[in-house]
Amino acid sequence: MNIVHNWRFLRQFLRRPKVIGAVAPSSRALATAVCGPYRRAAGSVRLLEVGAGTGSITRHIGTILGSDDRLDLCEIDPELASVLARDVLTNGDFAPAVADGRVRLLNMPVQEIDDPDGYDFVISGLPLTSFDLESVRSILEVIRRALKPGGVFSYFEYIALRPLSRTCAVGRRRARIRGVSAFLTRHIRDHQFSRQTVLANFPPAHARHFRYDEATESPASLCA
Ligand SMILES: C[S@@+](CC[C@H](N)C(=O)[O-])C[C@H]1O[C@@H](n2cnc3c(N)ncnc32)[C@H](O)[C@@H]1O
Repeated sequence: MNIVHNWRFLRQFLRRPKVIGAVAPSSRALATAVCGPYRRAAGSVRLLEVGAGTGSITRHIGTILGSDDRLDLCEIDPELASVLARDVLTNGDFAPAVADGRVRLLNMPVQEIDDPDGYDFVISGLPLTSFDLESVRSILEVIRRALKPGGVFSYFEYIALRPLSRTCAVGRRRARIRGVSAFLTRHIRDHQFSRQTVLANFPPAHARHFRYDEATESPASLCA
């Protein structure tokens, strides 16, 4: 399964490098770190995973999905959305949630998500550093609006990617990466409440967790 999974992922990367933004799927260690706040949640919650890809984080979510939790998976690429439907959501871990209609697959850009009920947790595999500044701004704004009060947003980024790109890129690419990097640095400074370093991933990554308010009533507030 892993070879097929890795090959599918790499093939999509070679076709659309800026949208996929990674050469290999996330490791189990990274999936575990990025799902940490969700795993510690109390009560039933609504969870959104954006940029689910071939499902490396989704599979981990399946192993910890609470019996009343509801999960939305957002993936822009139709081919990867089919992989999720065919190979991931048919996995036994998802059987009760799929049977109860608690899992939805949204084959659309995250920018189009507009859910009136809101989410307690948003977990992202989006390659933010590959996007232009306007896309990063609008995606983070959509995610922020999609969260319930006290909700938590988690994503990962490769440890060396931003510093290396800032130094090595030239011309317009350099201007883009510098703008995105400055914006993400401010976002991290203002809203990050927790971070884990995961060396057991290719490449090594930070799992970062954000909260946009200080509400205390949501289940999400339990994960400091
Ligand atoms: C780096 S891959 C992450 C895959 C998987 N979650 C992992 O961690 O291995 C990024 C995924 O984000 C998806 N993606 C990129 N832009 C998107 C957007 N605007 N809305 C939803 N998904 C998007 C890509 O198609 C790709 O599958």
